[in-house]
Amino acid sequence: MLELRDITVKYGNYAAVHQVNIEVTQGEIVVLLGANGAGKSTTFRTISGLSKPASGKILFQGKSIGGKSPDKIVQSGIVQCAEDRKLFSQMSVKDNLIMGAYVHRKNKKQFKQTLKEVYELFPILHDKSDFSAGSLSGGQQQMLAIGRALMAKPKLMLLDEPSIGLAPLIVEQMFESIQEINNEGTTILLAEQNANAALSIADKGYVFENGKVVVKGSSEELFSNKEVRKAYIGA
Ligand SMILES: Nc1ncnc2c1ncn2[C@@H]1O[C@H](COP(=O)(O)OP(=O)(O)OP(=O)(O)O)[C@@H](O)[C@H]1O
Ligand SMILES: [Mg+2]
Repeated sequence: MLELRDITVKYGNYAAVHQVNIEVTQGEIVVLLGANGAGKSTTFRTISGLSKPASGKILFQGKSIGGKSPDKIVQSGIVQCAEDRKLFSQMSVKDNLIMGAYVHRKNKKQFKQTLKEVYELFPILHDKSDFSAGSLSGGQQQMLAIGRALMAKPKLMLLDEPSIGLAPLIVEQMFESIQEINNEGTTILLAEQNANAALSIADKGYVFENGKVVVKGSSEELFSNKEVRKAYIGA
């Protein structure tokens, strides 16, 4: 479904991502693991069209999306949920969700149906639909960010560290919701430092170090890999 071939991304002379190859098959949950600064968000921004690769190719459903603008990429079915959530904090929960449906704004019927699905997935967003986004707790804001991304009806959802800053119990619920979104048919590419939780729902993963993929494998392979355990699981 998504293929990165030898992708290099530079900030000035510095290659934050170096000759990375990634393959995501339709229906999968794929996780990018790696410490701070390893290149996960840069990879995401490049898939979303916010950064341009210095070299390499990005294919989505067989077509090159390498030079496309971010809005074209959203229209093609890739929606990113950024690390900092980027909510409109003064606006209501519902208005944030409406913004997410912008690409499908002409399809009222679909909008209503998708909104209903998002409220079913995250009932608290329904309860708080008239509250300002800024008044929500951290976990609720993350749900809203994911809900807003879902309103665009993505084929592939990019989730950049959805568990960051959340309490352990909330993290667990968050990963259950991600699993549920995947079960409903959305393919997911996830960046995480919480390797334990991420590998428990993922099909496969890639470990980033200094902009390079140093290990890749199925979740079981990564989970039992000594180096990966030592660096990211802590046992
Ligand atoms: N806008 C930028 N300009 C210059 N350097 C940048 C920029 N954004 C990121 N970098 C650098 O690129 C490298 C990769 O950063 P990136 O944000 O992709 O890592 P990450 O894996 O997402 O880290 P984190 O887990 O902290 O989010 C880091 O060395 C970072 O300092
Ligand atoms: Mg990041």
